[in-house]
Amino acid sequence: VLSAEEKALVVDLCGKISGHCDALGGEALDRLFASFGQTRTYFPHFDLSPGSADVKRHGGKVLSAIGEAAKHIDSMDQALSKLSDLHAYNLRVDPGNFQLLSHCIQTVLAAHFPADFTPQCQAAWDKFLAAVSAVLTSKYR
Ligand code: HEM
Repeated sequence: VLSAEEKALVVDLCGKISGHCDALGGEALDRLFASFGQTRTYFPHFDLSPGSADVKRHGGKVLSAIGEAAKHIDSMDQALSKLSDLHAYNLRVDPGNFQLLSHCIQTVLAAHFPADFTPQCQAAWDKFLAAVSAVLTSKYR
């Protein structure tokens, strides 16, 4: 559970991310595909070369969804319900991959927002992304 202070740290940084979802999300996916090659297998229909239009577009969708989750941080189950269905029933992404993506997102935030991304802020994001991942993997069984 995130404290009020942790929620504020997440929502604040989301405000700074929101205009740059494609670039930042694309970078997170580039890092995911480079460091954790097995994650590429879910995207056989994408051009996965670094910085490709496919990767940026998809990264933008992922970070926008995270922004939406932050707007509904106290009711994420409902806010992410459709995405949860998609990942569990259609895509069947192995739940372990969510941790890998969360790690890459945090790396991007640290690189681009060094002043904001203090240890406390990272701890808040780690909790938040774990909560988002828990919702997206909650319907697997
Ligand atoms: C699709 C968000 C984790 C694989 C999507 C979409 C969003 C999204 C917003 C687009 C849905 C639509 O078009 O209606 C997220 C979030 C994640 C997450 C917020 C975790 C924080 C993952 C992980 C994988 C993955 C870990 C696999 C490594 C996919 C695939 C698609 C997809 C294969 C369909 C892509 C396409 O064909 O357009 N996700 N996702 N997702 N996601 Fe995720």
